[in-house]
Amino acid sequence: GGATAVARAHSNIALVKYWGKRDATLNTPAVGSISVTLDALYTDTRVTFAPDLAVDEFWLAGCRSDATRITHVLDLVRGYAASMGLPTAGLNAVVSSTNNFPTGAGLASSASGFAALALAASGAAGLALPARELSILARHGSGSAARSIFGGFAEMHAGTAADGSDAYAEELLDRADWPLAVVVAITEHGEKSINSTIGMNESKASSPFYQAWLDSADGDLAEMRGAIHDRDFTRLGELSEYNCLKLHALMLTTRPALIYWNAATVAAMHAVQGLRAAGVSAYFTIDAGPQVKVLCRPGDAAAVQHAMALVPGVHEARISALGPAAFRLE
Ligand code: DP6
Repeated sequence: GGATAVARAHSNIALVKYWGKRDATLNTPAVGSISVTLDALYTDTRVTFAPDLAVDEFWLAGCRSDATRITHVLDLVRGYAASMGLPTAGLNAVVSSTNNFPTGAGLASSASGFAALALAASGAAGLALPARELSILARHGSGSAARSIFGGFAEMHAGTAADGSDAYAEELLDRADWPLAVVVAITEHGEKSINSTIGMNESKASSPFYQAWLDSADGDLAEMRGAIHDRDFTRLGELSEYNCLKLHALMLTTRPALIYWNAATVAAMHAVQGLRAAGVSAYFTIDAGPQVKVLCRPGDAAAVQHAMALVPGVHEARISALGPAAFRLE
């Protein structure tokens, strides 16, 4: 039928991180964030609204999976459709997603998944939402997904509005305007990390550093915006590492502690410092898991990949360029 759409969205990695919620129901972040979208990792999602479906179905890499968060986003799409008088408002949907990277490799990111879902579901419903609305829709699935609607460098605004209408991402700079590379060092396949949603709520509830994290966010965001504006790679890299380590200090002081690193994660961090001592401009950042992402200039990517692959416990190192905005596949 005509109620199908397919979309692709790329993963992203935050340079100034999101951790903590302002409103858990609207999934608005307590702090803004700045990220780069990654070309090498993406999700393709097909959405079909159809009659005769008892519930929404979610198929991930061909396996029936939990649809709770998917239904939450689809309910918002059905709400928009109802306000436009579209017939898809009353229908359930089949959602099928595939990642271009092996599922369970510890690279799975809700960011690319919910950005692709926002674009495909709104398209299948018959809606043509502007990027800002797509970003808000993706945010309801996962905060980091709001940034994956955009390519290149993106900034997510924490917002202040009670209804979440100003908590969206937007593009800061096109990827063609400052090509950078990210080397992803995989230290653990099939990681079993504590889910971000749970982890950030625990940090808010228990870490004595949480207030300092909130208070210092705007300064980091302003400095990162300046580094991007000036194409100052050293400033971008130093600030990314600093903000990453500040996040992990917050995680480590959460009760119970959120220790996302393994031995190879730490070895990779030292290897990046070693690269800098040898004159290669490279900086690491780490999310809620053990993988290490290394920021560098495209001309240094092969040397960085080589160095990362030699780190004990690193299984694989992949090079990514910066990626495009989410788009429809038809
Ligand atoms: C460490 O976006 O996964 O990757 O909104 O609860 O789904 P929810 O959280 P999520 O958190 C991402 C945390 C992070 C930092 C970041 O991407 O900014």
